[in-house]
Amino acid sequence: MSAARAALLGLAALLAANGAVRADELVARGEYLVHAGGCVSCHTAPGGTKFAGGRALATPFGTFYSPNITPDRETGIGTWSDADFQRALRRGISPSGAHYFPVFPYPSFTGITDDDARAIKAYLFSLPPTHAPDRQHDVWFPFSWRFLQIGWRLLYFDEGPFQPDRRASAAYNRGAYLVTALAHCGECHTPRNFLGAVESDRALSGNPDGPDGQIVPNITPDPKTGIGDWDKDDIATLLKTGETPEHAQVKGAMHEAIEDGLKYLTDDDRQAIATYLLAQKPVVNAVKAK
Ligand code: HEC
Ligand code: HEC
Repeated sequence: MSAARAALLGLAALLAANGAVRADELVARGEYLVHAGGCVSCHTAPGGTKFAGGRALATPFGTFYSPNITPDRETGIGTWSDADFQRALRRGISPSGAHYFPVFPYPSFTGITDDDARAIKAYLFSLPPTHAPDRQHDVWFPFSWRFLQIGWRLLYFDEGPFQPDRRASAAYNRGAYLVTALAHCGECHTPRNFLGAVESDRALSGNPDGPDGQIVPNITPDPKTGIGDWDKDDIATLLKTGETPEHAQVKGAMHEAIEDGLKYLTDDDRQAIATYLLAQKPVVNAVKAK
């Protein structure tokens, strides 16, 4: 073998190994992002296979059942291209052109960056396919009409991706990305109008009618009705352990969000979330059961 050829083969082997490392890294990063995005809780039925769907999501409009997002080619998303996945996650449109209901938090996920969406797909596609047909939603007329989503989108959907604030710190911008896009805190913590759209001028100020009817507290820094008397560590600790400064444990949807995802975040990311939250405008809103 000529020296040149040997050198070329060596180079090719090096590049291939490098590619494999990068694919592994992409999958690992995807797993981290899936934890931040809370995909497990919504896409896994109690006792069911992870990501195989069938989890019931009760809303004021009826009950939705999450679809199978494992790479099964028949019942999951195994035939989807990267472009199909990006369009679903960030624009709420299926490969066949149907419009998703916003119970799938694409109005937040629209802020997810291209790279993060690619990593999330790489992770999901690294998992074993599970055969599990999607279950029909059980939603009241006329909210069950998918095409009405076209009107809803015109009224309420602002397409991403997330734009960092150049004047703010890196921690603030990382927190903003997590809170408003990937970890979609506002999907539960922001009040909604009668058409189920979040009221952005009262962002994060609590929602009397959260998932499964649970009351979701005000997490703006208002001292009386929000978390104005919490410091960054209080917030970061809650996101890691579920423990409030009064040594109570959060329950229900927040417990799940932590157990299925937020507890796996880095301390830096949890601090970034706290930095962003405490920098928001306080909103006075004492959330009470409806
Ligand atoms: C709050 C619950 C919830 C969360 C969180 C959530 N999803 Fe979903 N997702 C849904 C529901 C419900 C649908 C179906 C919407 C519809 O039928 O219009 C859906 C649909 C999808 C679809 C389309 C599947 C298909 O067969 O058409 C994909 C892909 C998807 N989600 C991926 C994700 C990923 C990735 C994450 C995490 C980053 C995530 N979802 C987080 C509830 C959720
Ligand atoms: C799936 C819905 C859901 C999501 C997503 C969610 N939360 Fe929560 N959160 C809740 C509920 C419900 C409670 C109340 C828990 C309880 O009553 O024990 C809560 C409680 C909290 C509390 C405690 C407030 C207090 O006064 O005790 C904080 C802080 C908090 N959430 C922050 C966040 C942050 C930050 C995010 C995003 C990273 C987030 N939550 C995402 C539903 C959610």
